[in-house]
Formats: sequence, C-alpha cells, structure tokens
Amino acid sequence: MPLRDTPYSYGLVSKLLHWTLALLILTNLVMGLFFGNMPKDLRFTLIMWHKSIGAAVLILMLARIIWRSAQGFPQLPEGIVLWQRRLARLVHVALYPILIAQPVTGWLLSSAAGHPVSVFGLFALPDLIGKNPLWAKAFDLAHDVLGYVILALLTAHITAAFYHHFIEGNKLIRRML
Ligand code: HEM
Ligand code: HEM
Repeated sequence: MPLRDTPYSYGLVSKLLHWTLALLILTNLVMGLFFGNMPKDLRFTLIMWHKSIGAAVLILMLARIIWRSAQGFPQLPEGIVLWQRRLARLVHVALYPILIAQPVTGWLLSSAAGHPVSVFGLFALPDLIGKNPLWAKAFDLAHDVLGYVILALLTAHITAAFYHHFIEGNKLIRRML
C-alpha cells in the first residue's frame, strides 16, 4: 500500500491517521457524554485519561491538517450525486477546525478552573490562562456544545459511509481500509 494519497485514493498515512483519531475521538466523546452520571472517583480517574487522550487528539489533528493540506482530498467515487458529494466534503472539512477547537476548549476550561493537564503522567501542558471561574464556565459551555456538534457530524459521517457501502453498494468504506 502506498504511503501517499493519489487523486483518487487514500494512502497508508491518511488511513492510519483516520482510524487512530476515530478511536481516540469516539473514546473521548463517549467518556465525556457519560461524565455526568459517573460516581465521583471513577469520574476523577477518567477525566485524567480524557485530558491525555484529548491532548493526543490535538497533536495528531495538527499533523493531519499538515498532511491533508499537502495531499488535498482524493476525488469521491463517480456514482455519488452532486449534493451528496458537496455535503460529504463540507462535513470532512468542518471536522478539522472543530476537532482542534474541542481539545483547546478542554485545555482552556482546565486552566481557568485551576486544574493541571497531565498527559499520560509524562508531562504537564502549560496553563493557557490564569484561574478564572467565569472563563471556566464559558469554556465548559463551549466544550459541551462542541461535544454535541461533533456527535451530530460524526453521526452524519458514519451513517453516510454505511449507507453508501451497503445500500448504494459502492463499497465506499473500502476506500479507507
Ligand atoms: C471520530 C470518528 C471519525 C472522524 C473524525 C472521521 C473523519 C473523516 C474525515 C475528515 C475524512 C476525509 C478524509 C480525511 O481528511 O482524512 C473521512 C473520510 C472517510 N471516513 Fe471517516 N471519520 C470518522 C469515523 C469513521 C467511521 C466509523 C467510518 C466507517 C464506518 C468512516 C468512514 C470514512 C470513509 C469511507 C471515508 C472516505 C470518504 C471518501 O471516499 O473520500 N469514518 N473521515
Ligand atoms: C477530541 C477531544 C475531546 C472530546 C471529543 C471531548 C468531549 C467532551 C464531552 C462531550 C464532555 C462532556 C461535556 C459536559 O457535560 O460538560 C467533556 C467534558 C470535559 N472535558 Fe473533554 N473532550 C475532548 C478533549 C478534552 C481535553 C483536551 C481536555 C483538557 C485538557 C478536556 C477536558 C474536559 C473536562 C475537564 C470535562 C468535564 C467538564 C465538566 O466537569 O463539566 N476535554 N469532554
């Protein structure tokens, strides 16, 4: 399998970035959405993992933006109608800034709440801003809202992938395998 993309297909690097980030992001999303119903000590432990995974998402998403800007997007398969192509590209492109903004708002809410961000216990990220309960509330709300926007976009993305693969029968998911 070639490392780089072609104008019509994804290479190994794009595929590894896609599935590694898919796993990390879906883990953080599910964890975040259930934080509210968790016993305190479990929540405390998982928030440490949540922040570490989130920091890894930020670093890998920056690498993915550099890679995608260098490679461009491979063309979607012929049989897909124009409005679906446009919508697919819109979702793909929208996911990039949103998946940078989500870890950054998490980092900002932790700094404003006066909580350090340790990355897998290896090193701590510097505080982006000083302790400020008002900003902590604002970034918490932003992090919350973005969490639901990501959930909606990924639901559309994954439903479309399965629809094309199984209903339209154009084996679309194979393009990312
Ligand atoms: C957190 C989860 C996910 C994210 C953030 C995500 C994001 C993306 C993005 C941004 C692209 C455009 C190519 C690129 O720039 O890398 C893409 C392509 C693709 N994704 Fe996902 N994806 C996720 C999960 C999934 C899942 C679970 C499936 C399948 C079941 C899937 C199937 C595909 C396919 C088939 C393509 C290629 C579309 C094309 O033909 O160009 N994705 N994904
Ligand atoms: C792609 C990465 C991330 C996703 C998808 C994500 C998603 C979420 C979601 C859905 C919630 C629940 C929102 C709520 O109910 O308040 C949450 C909470 C939280 N996230 Fe993230 N997050 C990510 C990255 C981060 C990062 C990098 C940090 C910190 C460095 C972070 C810190 C937090 C904290 C402290 C909470 C709890 C907020 C509270 O107590 O209400 N998150 N996250």
